[in-house]
Amino acid sequence: MNLTDSQLILAPMEGVLDHLMRELLTSLNPFDLCITEFIRIVDSLLPERVFHRLSPELCQGGATQSGVPIRIQLLGQDSNWLAENAVRAIELGSNGIDLNFGCPAKTVNKNKGGAVLLKSPETIYQIVSNVKNSLERSQCVSVKIRLGFEDSSLFNEIVDAVVQANANLLTIHARTKSHGYRPPAYWDLIGKLPHHNKIDIVANGEIWSLTDAKNCIMQAKTPHLMLGRGVLALPNLAAVIKDNATPMSWPKLCVVFKRYCELEQQGEKSFYFSSRLKQWLRYLKIQYPQAEQLFNAIKTLKNKDDIMREINKIS
Ligand SMILES: Cc1cc2nc3c(=O)[nH]c(=O)nc-3n(C[C@H](O)[C@H](O)[C@H](O)COP(=O)(O)O)c2cc1C
Repeated sequence: MNLTDSQLILAPMEGVLDHLMRELLTSLNPFDLCITEFIRIVDSLLPERVFHRLSPELCQGGATQSGVPIRIQLLGQDSNWLAENAVRAIELGSNGIDLNFGCPAKTVNKNKGGAVLLKSPETIYQIVSNVKNSLERSQCVSVKIRLGFEDSSLFNEIVDAVVQANANLLTIHARTKSHGYRPPAYWDLIGKLPHHNKIDIVANGEIWSLTDAKNCIMQAKTPHLMLGRGVLALPNLAAVIKDNATPMSWPKLCVVFKRYCELEQQGEKSFYFSSRLKQWLRYLKIQYPQAEQLFNAIKTLKNKDDIMREINKIS
């Protein structure tokens, strides 16, 4: 399988991969698509401002400034309200709709959204087909699942349901809900599915390097990958995977990090400035020992100027 055939998708990560981070990462990487953090749908048609707040890219043609299309992700259990909100998201400029059946959060699962629906392939079928039928045929409906809830015994049935409902793309985070985010990811279980000629499959989970990407592609038997924490730890990971780029050096990362600080200070969430920076540094520490030193230097600081003084020292 050839890496040049790969579609690379930037993962949705609630509270982490917001539009500023999407801007930054799509400027550094050859991503084909970004999925937004999820919008939770309960029992209403949400106002337009909710979609715009989550994805300001909707006001710039539904793409980041680097031209990478954005797809809104919806999470919920009521197929009619999901369908109505899907129509609205498309009208506002989303490039298709992504449906979340993988979120492990307790609050979400208590309300019967996210991963808990993996226990009921029939409900997944109803939701996906209702959303698909409410949109024009040309609109892509993608679905994001895990291998199952407690175990992977329903995995084939879940994928059957997604295929039968005519979804266009299926991303599989290769772990059950019970696995949480604990390594490993079971890429080989994706490879064993009999559905590879029926739907485009995207493999996800634990891809931190080019070697991981190659192993995942081989085991999952699909060239398409979704990258989440890996690209936060190595900000040009998709370019390393697809364009043979060299992993970003620390001096280059310093320039990128300072650019992100400027973006964060201008952004409407600048209130969260210090927590956002510390959050990213926690991922960067995985690849860069210097990020740990910076994290330690700013971890107790709250004032923006004090934080920026430390950041301006790095090079
Ligand atoms: C902090 C955090 C937030 C996440 N938010 C979402 C989300 O909003 N929607 C979703 O489908 N998955 C979400 N995920 C799961 C990721 O999209 C991805 O499936 C998971 O992190 C495994 O991929 P990775 O190993 O490349 O990070 C989240 C994961 C993390 C760690």
